[in-house]
Amino acid sequence: MVKYIAEPFRIKMVEPIRQTTREEREEIIKKANYNMFSIKAEDVYIDLLTDSGTGAMSQEQWSGMMIGDEAYAHSRSYFRFQESAKDIFGDWAWFQLVHQGRAAEKVLMPILLDASQGKNVAISNTFFDTTRGHVMMAGGTPIDCVIEEAKDSALRIPFKGNMDTKKLQELISEYGSRIGVIVMTITNNSAGGQPVSMANIKETSAICKKHNIPFCIDAARYAENAFFVKRDEAGYQDKSIKEIIRETFSYADYFTMSAKKDAILNMGGLVGVKDPNSPSLNGVKSNAISFEGFLTYGGLNGRDIDAFAIGLQEGVQEDYLAYRIGQIEYLAGRLDDAGIIYQAPAGGHGLFVDAAAMFPKIPWYEFPGQVLAVELYKEAGIRACEIGSLLMDHDQNGNPVQSAFEFTRLAVPRRVYTQAHFDVMADALIAIKKRAEQYTRGFVIDWEPPVLRHFQVHLKPAA
Ligand code: F0G
Repeated sequence: MVKYIAEPFRIKMVEPIRQTTREEREEIIKKANYNMFSIKAEDVYIDLLTDSGTGAMSQEQWSGMMIGDEAYAHSRSYFRFQESAKDIFGDWAWFQLVHQGRAAEKVLMPILLDASQGKNVAISNTFFDTTRGHVMMAGGTPIDCVIEEAKDSALRIPFKGNMDTKKLQELISEYGSRIGVIVMTITNNSAGGQPVSMANIKETSAICKKHNIPFCIDAARYAENAFFVKRDEAGYQDKSIKEIIRETFSYADYFTMSAKKDAILNMGGLVGVKDPNSPSLNGVKSNAISFEGFLTYGGLNGRDIDAFAIGLQEGVQEDYLAYRIGQIEYLAGRLDDAGIIYQAPAGGHGLFVDAAAMFPKIPWYEFPGQVLAVELYKEAGIRACEIGSLLMDHDQNGNPVQSAFEFTRLAVPRRVYTQAHFDVMADALIAIKKRAEQYTRGFVIDWEPPVLRHFQVHLKPAA
């Protein structure tokens, strides 16, 4: 087990957080209708709702903000950004700034998918919710194609986020020219932050080329993915993280990226187009101007663009990545000792605890993952979120969908919490595990909106 994590920084500015009592928290969560999104941040001690936009910027990023150039067109910030992006991703024809990841999807997906041209299928190792949403809004059907091994949370194999390339070829035979794009999500968030191997990226890219299908990377956590490649894939130990990232992107035609993760930014996103002669390039530019802003700022302030340029470089530093992945492994090690099952091995941006294994008596339609999230809040003021049947929502006919997993995700913000916070998380989970037998009932829905219910749903304890 990892004994301690050497933080490659020291702290010079602090943000106070507040401990509440168990009685207060029981009242707060009840008033919030047992919905984690409805709790006020000031009532949370450790906030693990997401790792997106919640990282701590460095002194260099903050000083970069002071030199941000707010010119509407072709600002100095834009050119500094272009230089940094080329250094990280390689010599791509176009890097389009946008305000976050889903904006990148909104710009690109309607260009690659066009139901009127018969392009109405998209395949991924696993679509993230917003990507799935933008595929559907563009008239497409999203199909997930992750390896079967990903569905067994206790199974410890590297690169559990991989595409099932055999199944992919079968899907290509079935859907043929209807497929508008194949998306590789790195790391595979919905499968537990599990990485994808370079061999799998390369093979998927070759399959796309053979069938003339555009290959797009959903690059939210590309640097964490590169760290796993260096650590666990034969032949990459002597390569630098930057070299691994450049190789990764050399296989793709497009990428969409939420910069709120590995670029350690509070807000930002990017679309990449590799080929200067791509028929999609003009469409990307036009959509960006319509939805986001002029080509050289894309919905971001000049100061954010400078922080982005610097964050790209910081997010690929190996000591930082070792510390970050080390934090998650430390927590995983403590859970191993207590016999708590999670999506193993520990992934990139958080730990996905198997709540169905923790509470075997709670049926999936009473949301064991939500029960564990609520208990974590009551126990220690920790805010996590459910990734399971509550998130899965309904199918097109309004029937509830059972998820392959009932996870409670503890997503870890970058450079924010210390090892003592991780002990608080582990102690809380262990305390709940000790009394897990007692939990037999979960939650039922009191009210829900028509779409994306988990953000707004009202729950009540099952009678
Ligand atoms: N793709 C992946 C793999 C993501 O994890 C996210 C966001 C997005 C795209 C969309 O990016 O939020 O900047 O619009 N994931 C966050 C999460 C929200 O909590 O996992 P965005």
